[in-house]
Amino acid sequence: MTTVTVRAPAKINLGLSVGPPRPDGYHPLATVYQAVALYDEVKARPAPDGTLSVSVTGEGHDVVPLDATNLAVRAAALLAKRFDVDEGVALSIHKTIPVAGGLAGGSTDAAGALVACDALWGTQATRDDLLALASELGSDVPFCLVGGIAVGTGRGDQLSSVLARGSYEWVLAYAATGLSTPQVYAELDRVAIGPGVRADAAPGAPEVAEPLMAALRSGDPYAVGLALHNDLEAPALRLRPGLRRTLDLGRELDALGSMVSGSGPTCLFLASGEDHAVDLAVGLSSSGTCRLVQRASGPVHGARLVT
Ligand code: C5P
Repeated sequence: MTTVTVRAPAKINLGLSVGPPRPDGYHPLATVYQAVALYDEVKARPAPDGTLSVSVTGEGHDVVPLDATNLAVRAAALLAKRFDVDEGVALSIHKTIPVAGGLAGGSTDAAGALVACDALWGTQATRDDLLALASELGSDVPFCLVGGIAVGTGRGDQLSSVLARGSYEWVLAYAATGLSTPQVYAELDRVAIGPGVRADAAPGAPEVAEPLMAALRSGDPYAVGLALHNDLEAPALRLRPGLRRTLDLGRELDALGSMVSGSGPTCLFLASGEDHAVDLAVGLSSSGTCRLVQRASGPVHGARLVT
């Protein structure tokens, strides 16, 4: 086998409830993930000299690290260590998902690299092996492997299935520059009434709101649009007040729901169907409030071999 190609999807969070930080600094989450049809492509070729390397093209390529800190390289290194592989790999990633956009672009590249290297090296890792490695790599990486729609708890890495139906048409508005996820969590915690206790934190473990679960069971996009929820939206808006204009514009254009995606700064709009998605995309593009607008439907599968 000479080259292996994997398509790895972006994720959005339809609901994201965040608890106060744990002793390890991570925040307990209850989130509903959906994978959407916006893909990075991860290719893996053999590197006979045993080295692990990566090259990156496409959206935001100039800000992605190319050394051992690259999440896809870390994924390859972790898989190689776990299965005693000494063959090496040359990874090349073509990005469509913006970097630091709240869409798990880096996490999905890591998930893609796990799948690609597993196929290239013939390690035959089980799904559970890959999920365990994914969880070591980052909170969103397990979901990027699995895709579809799922609830994430713990750091977001503990997945369980959701009774959901329907397909959803999203419009994504990218900002000119990314937002750092740790910075957005820190801004969330800054609004605190005491050490580690936020004024807005519900007691106990965070939970996914029942109206969202009911809306997903019904498959009604109008109900889903009303039930969208993201605890990270307020801190992202405090850090980037200008995003409000983009969100307001989506509401004026009758989006069924308008929300910051994950830790932002990408803004997410739910359309009632394909025609409405085109109208929303055109309206947002011509507004000058965002850098680029993309459409993506969901749910779609997780990181998967295409060749
Ligand atoms: O897990 P991942 O490396 O993707 O997380 C990036 C950063 O986001 C973490 O270092 C942490 O600051 C923050 N985070 C968090 N709680 C989570 C997930 C991420 O505080 N559940």
